[in-house]
Amino acid sequence: MGIQWRDSLAIGVPEIDNQHKELLHRFDRLLTASQAGQGIEELKNLQVYLEDYVTSHFSDEEGIQRQHSYPGYEAHKSEHRYFIEQITKLRLETEKSGVATHNVIETNNLLLKWLLNHISKVDTQLGAFIKSKTA
Ligand SMILES: [Fe+2]
Repeated sequence: MGIQWRDSLAIGVPEIDNQHKELLHRFDRLLTASQAGQGIEELKNLQVYLEDYVTSHFSDEEGIQRQHSYPGYEAHKSEHRYFIEQITKLRLETEKSGVATHNVIETNNLLLKWLLNHISKVDTQLGAFIKSKTA
């Protein structure tokens, strides 16, 4: 198993596409570790690693939107904010030793689904807008 990047996820902005690949890679490491029953310390480390990357990726993506005066900026940004809140919440829950690993796996899967949906809808719209401005 594992999460595979696929070309249909490309939004046509190489900088963003490369970051999305790295993001999926980090998710994959976290999911693999959760499924392999890695200890809570390892899961916590991987969550921090993912959270850091998500935060810097979103801030780059928002920077590109401001550069292009993207009309969907505010709505897009609030989607990002929601996702970061969820990731932070998961990390805090994981830190409490009482959280069962299967909950962590389930939440990770939900977050991954959210991300794939976000890339294929919201980011794809952004990509089309940027392409139309730079063509
Ligand atoms: Fe986005």
